[in-house]
Amino acid sequence: MAVVIGVPASAEGETRSPVVGDVVKKLAALGASVLVEKGATDAAFATAESLGEVTWAGSTAEVLAAADVIWTINGLDPAAEAHLRPGQVLMGLLHPYAGAEHASRLADAGVTAFAMELLPRISRAQSMDILSSQGAASGYQCVLIAAARAPKFFPMLTYAAGTIRPSRVLVIGAGVAGLQAIATAKRLGAMVEGYDVRPETREQVESLGAKFVDTGVSAAGEGGYARELTDDERARQAAALAKAVANSDVVITTAAVPGRKAPRIVTREMVDAMRPGSVVVDMAAETGGNVEGTVAGKEMAVGPARVVGPVNLPGRMPVHTSEMFAKNLFNFTAPMIVDGALAIDWSDEVIAGTALTHAGRVVHGGVRKALGLAEDAIPTSPTNEGEDAR
Ligand code: NAI
Repeated sequence: MAVVIGVPASAEGETRSPVVGDVVKKLAALGASVLVEKGATDAAFATAESLGEVTWAGSTAEVLAAADVIWTINGLDPAAEAHLRPGQVLMGLLHPYAGAEHASRLADAGVTAFAMELLPRISRAQSMDILSSQGAASGYQCVLIAAARAPKFFPMLTYAAGTIRPSRVLVIGAGVAGLQAIATAKRLGAMVEGYDVRPETREQVESLGAKFVDTGVSAAGEGGYARELTDDERARQAAALAKAVANSDVVITTAAVPGRKAPRIVTREMVDAMRPGSVVVDMAAETGGNVEGTVAGKEMAVGPARVVGPVNLPGRMPVHTSEMFAKNLFNFTAPMIVDGALAIDWSDEVIAGTALTHAGRVVHGGVRKALGLAEDAIPTSPTNEGEDAR
């Protein structure tokens, strides 16, 4: 029997769809069929016509009863999780570090859950990387938000009575989102500076035509990510950044450390030293904020500035972010469908490294450690019993 990919409706407020028409066709070519809950794709403008050959279900329970593999944007709510059955595969942004209870619930359901946040950052996995595709959209959106709120032009402008100086934009955190923010602000004509603790980002920032802010603090961590800073490093960073923040009309912050609360980088004093009318957009608002005074989902007046804490930025442009999301999920799922049947190759480091739960256990070593799950119970790789694969 063909593999059934099930798409239940997302939680209210989520506009993206994990499936689009192009991907439905590609799945059909692999011998998989798609079952979609009515309404699940409406907010992404993925119409029945554009989706093509899919079957429609009237409820989440109906989708979950028939699906072999469940595609979601943000996982399922607890009521829907109750319908999961052992052996089913669940994937999406499952918030693996959200808490031991959350991860254990999926383990108890007996599902094989792939949290796409855990995808190894290796070249082969780039086409599956949801954090990157959605991060690029977030970086772009942050700049649009800032430009729409700034009481100034971004570009230099010559008019009959003189010349307007371009806005100065500082982007803190130059990962996927930050680099897209820098590129977008440059395209709008601003004078852009970029900053990150990973030294290799200097070249990337400069290649986009922006200036790199050198604080003398370098904190490259494992797997290409940043590590948390020590107190001394934080103090040195703050002193150097304070000047750059005060000189900026717009500050966009995108700094993150996987599995941890967002680092607090911009203090209240730094915001207070900005010019009246300045705008700060804190992309890390949902994970605690890089800026003192950020409130997720709100725009706050903080001293002379407005501090915006946007949530679900990729959801503001669901046509393209759904297309990217669906293609990423397809590229991750396709190798698991062999001759029209589900066959998971646990020796594949991308598949094994992305697994959060399998066969009743939380199987990701890093998540177990972060959640404080017992060391002695760290499981072995699903197929290599007796040998710790991660
Ligand atoms: P992220 O979203 O985890 O963090 C964003 C940025 O914040 C990072 O550049 C990080 O260095 C920076 N940051 C953390 N703490 C900071 C602090 N205290 N002050 C200033 N900046 C701080 O990162 P993202 O964008 O998801 O990716 C980071 C790395 O992963 C990069 O090396 C990127 O090139 C690499 N990557 C590799 C991929 C692959 O090979 N498949 C795909 C995507 C990214």
